Amino acid sequence: MEVIIRPTYQEMSQAAAHEVAKVLNTKPNAVMGMATGSTPLGLYQELVRMHVEEALDFSQVTTFNLDEYVGLPVTHPQSYHHFMHEIFFRHINIPPQNIYIPSGTTSNYPAFCQWYEDSIQRCGGIDLQILGIGTDGHIAFNEPGSSLSSRTRLKTLAKQTIEDNSRFFEHPGEVPVYAITMGVGTILEAKEIILIANGANKAAAITAAIEGPITSMITASGLQLHPTAKVFLDHEAANQLSMREYYDWLEEKRPGAPR
Ligand code: GLP
Repeated sequence: MEVIIRPTYQEMSQAAAHEVAKVLNTKPNAVMGMATGSTPLGLYQELVRMHVEEALDFSQVTTFNLDEYVGLPVTHPQSYHHFMHEIFFRHINIPPQNIYIPSGTTSNYPAFCQWYEDSIQRCGGIDLQILGIGTDGHIAFNEPGSSLSSRTRLKTLAKQTIEDNSRFFEHPGEVPVYAITMGVGTILEAKEIILIANGANKAAAITAAIEGPITSMITASGLQLHPTAKVFLDHEAANQLSMREYYDWLEEKRPGAPR
């Protein structure tokens, strides 16, 4: 895994956005995997800025979101449908028919999950997957114990995740217990992957994911199996990494890096 450390959340977000723009400028009809949560807010804000000020074009882009809560209507302020629309999609020029987000209200989850997997394949697979990480090391909603070859499916959330995400809801009891999520196997098939994390509360999960053993107990550690996964961190999220000096050295010696 390539580890890229920036002093602040804003700089981390900009570095990650630059990576996304690089893919879109090389392949204007790229298929992107999208993440929700508070971490990617700065990244989406930067992409919107690039769209407005630098004409970054989304007119041929297709997106697949990682996950959605089960039981929340798309209009619910905490549904990932609502989040993506408000934070990102309504500010860019992506055609609405190119947006895929798992359904949290389907009457047939197994059939929907298969259709979602098939749709990713039909669109040529994901070119660039954006990921955040949960404090328990999960990616998307692949909680500890999820198979590293899992596919899109219905998942019961861990108590820790429900507690972490309750900050977005008016009452803690409102957090859905189930979600539909791409699997770790689905995610690992993306041609490129970037994971972003900031803040001291992510430091332990990040250290386990990058430097610990590959284990289904920390599903983000599955990214060690991906040939080119990149992890963008701010200083706080990086502060427990034992190889920190080495990552900084690599960055300094990266071909093309300013001397
Ligand atoms: C949820 C999402 C994940 C996200 C995680 C972290 O569980 N399903 O995709 O990475 O939250 O969220 P935050 O960025 O708000 O810390």
